[in-house]
Amino acid sequence: MSLPFIELENVSLSYNGSERLEDMAIHEVNLTIEKGSFTAVVGPSGCGKSTMMKLLSGLQAPTLGYVFMNNREVSGPVSGIGMAFQKSTLLAWRNILDNILLPFEVSPDYEYSYRRDKAKFVKKALALLDKVGLKGYEKHFPWELSGGMQQRASICRALVHEPSLLILDEPFGALDSFTREELWMMLRDLQAEQKFTVLLVTHDLEEAAFLADDIYVMSTRPGRIIHEEKVTFERPRSIDIRYEPKFTHLVQELRGHIKAAKEAA
Ligand SMILES: Nc1ncnc2c1ncn2[C@@H]1O[C@H](COP(=O)(O)OP(=O)(O)OP(=O)(O)O)[C@@H](O)[C@H]1O
Ligand SMILES: [Mg+2]
Repeated sequence: MSLPFIELENVSLSYNGSERLEDMAIHEVNLTIEKGSFTAVVGPSGCGKSTMMKLLSGLQAPTLGYVFMNNREVSGPVSGIGMAFQKSTLLAWRNILDNILLPFEVSPDYEYSYRRDKAKFVKKALALLDKVGLKGYEKHFPWELSGGMQQRASICRALVHEPSLLILDEPFGALDSFTREELWMMLRDLQAEQKFTVLLVTHDLEEAAFLADDIYVMSTRPGRIIHEEKVTFERPRSIDIRYEPKFTHLVQELRGHIKAAKEAA
């Protein structure tokens, strides 16, 4: 049984508050995200993918339409969300462990429990580091780690407080293809185990096809959803699925939708 977790209903957003179509960054977007699912959003640069993430986290309010989470309208920043971006946002002056513990320090939800029971939270952070292959790096500083390791740590920080929604905006975009594939598998395994909902923005169609249950393709600005693809490949998915005809066919088809979106602009 699938439950709607997030719903966007006819959502349009302009950054200047205007309701004119030419000012809209995204226009009349409708989408539903089920609890525990993995959704990818793909589309040309500037089409409003990051804007959509800001709407979902409550950092931006829609100009028109509604955003619902757990059947309640989102009217401000939402708690219970973890985020990671293309550029590592780890703090250079904190070691990896202290970076990962940051959500507990800044969130009012943990104000008392974190101070009272820090050892429990440290244990949790170390377990997560172990899971993503960073055991032993907790005392290192971000600049002592490779780009891929920094992104692993960023994802640990986004997940350490067990958010119900993980928002990833091009998290692997700056990595070499080998490291990227390793991180795809890491994310696949973490989600299979912890069952959080993921929303991934990516330029990489293979990444979307490998990881997602649902792929939304957006048009050029103002961004609209022009295609929804349900990915039915069985899980767990092996990385070698990329060489299977059904996979390459899907990627090719998605490429066609993006091309059509660009040509229609
Ligand atoms: N803070 C802002 N103020 C004004 N306009 C903005 C702001 N942020 C984004 N925009 C505009 O909104 C549109 C969508 O931007 P957005 O960052 O959502 O695109 P994107 O799909 O994430 O692009 P990319 O793939 O390059 O990251 C763009 O035309 C951009 O210039
Ligand atoms: Mg973006």
